[in-house]
Amino acid sequence: MKLSDRVAIVTGAGRGIGRALALKLAGAGAVVVVNDINEDCQEVAHEIGATGRQSLAVIADVASPTDVAGLVEKTTIAFGKVDILINNAGIARDQLVMRMSDEDWDRVLAVDLKSVFLCTRAVLRYMIKQRWGRIISISSIVGLVGNPGQANYASAKAGIIGFTRAVAKEVASRGITVNAIAPGFIDTEMTQRLSENQRQELLSRIPLGRLGSPDDVAAAVAFLASEDAGYITGQVLTVDGGIAM
Ligand SMILES: NC(=O)c1ccc[n+]([C@@H]2O[C@H](COP(=O)([O-])OP(=O)(O)OC[C@H]3O[C@@H](n4cnc5c(N)ncnc54)[C@H](O)[C@@H]3O)[C@@H](O)[C@H]2O)c1
Repeated sequence: MKLSDRVAIVTGAGRGIGRALALKLAGAGAVVVVNDINEDCQEVAHEIGATGRQSLAVIADVASPTDVAGLVEKTTIAFGKVDILINNAGIARDQLVMRMSDEDWDRVLAVDLKSVFLCTRAVLRYMIKQRWGRIISISSIVGLVGNPGQANYASAKAGIIGFTRAVAKEVASRGITVNAIAPGFIDTEMTQRLSENQRQELLSRIPLGRLGSPDDVAAAVAFLASEDAGYITGQVLTVDGGIAM
């Protein structure tokens, strides 16, 4: 899976799945812009740099239109273009819907869904001009099947799927593909909050018998970003050990 000469932005890539995505794309030859809301992204960019690949860390809040404009501007100033956008940044603020605050609804929708719109809109200008692009957003199986306590998160992740299909149709004629990945339960800080009982119960429901790893998601993303996936658009690829089938 060669991505030589491609410039990729990965949001929320300071740790977890995003970090694995950044390392995977860099390993395949891409120049990677590593974004996060905090300085963790600098370490990841450094790690990529140590392998001899080009990388740039950009601290930005992807829910902020100004920050997103800055992220894409810094990318194009440094590397002249942007070929691949991975919308990965995301948060969860779980609560039963009757007790959910306006603030927890708004922030999750802003970070998990509005950010996808902001980043996509900002990169499309460059992708349309060059008539090539790959946009891949990290949704979740929770956006497909729901989950109690996650009405805000499920709404945002389902929203990503509608957005993906609408934009895929808008830009297909320009050589740009737009797809989503719906991970199941992946072993990161987001899932480390589960109690041992919850973890065992979960494992008993996963046909492949284990939590996913960030690398499982990275392999699917690298494929969708590659030339080989050029005839695939508007799709949601579930990477979940079979739990949602
Ligand atoms: N872990 C899972 O089981 C799982 C399952 C399905 C989907 N996902 C999705 O995968 C993505 C990555 O999840 P993860 O498990 O690696 O989570 P994580 O919490 O380990 O990492 C998320 C990263 O996003 C960054 N971030 C948060 N808000 C941001 C903002 N406003 N701007 C820029 N960066 C921001 C965080 O600082 C962090 O580095 C998320 O979209 C998540 O919803 C995760």
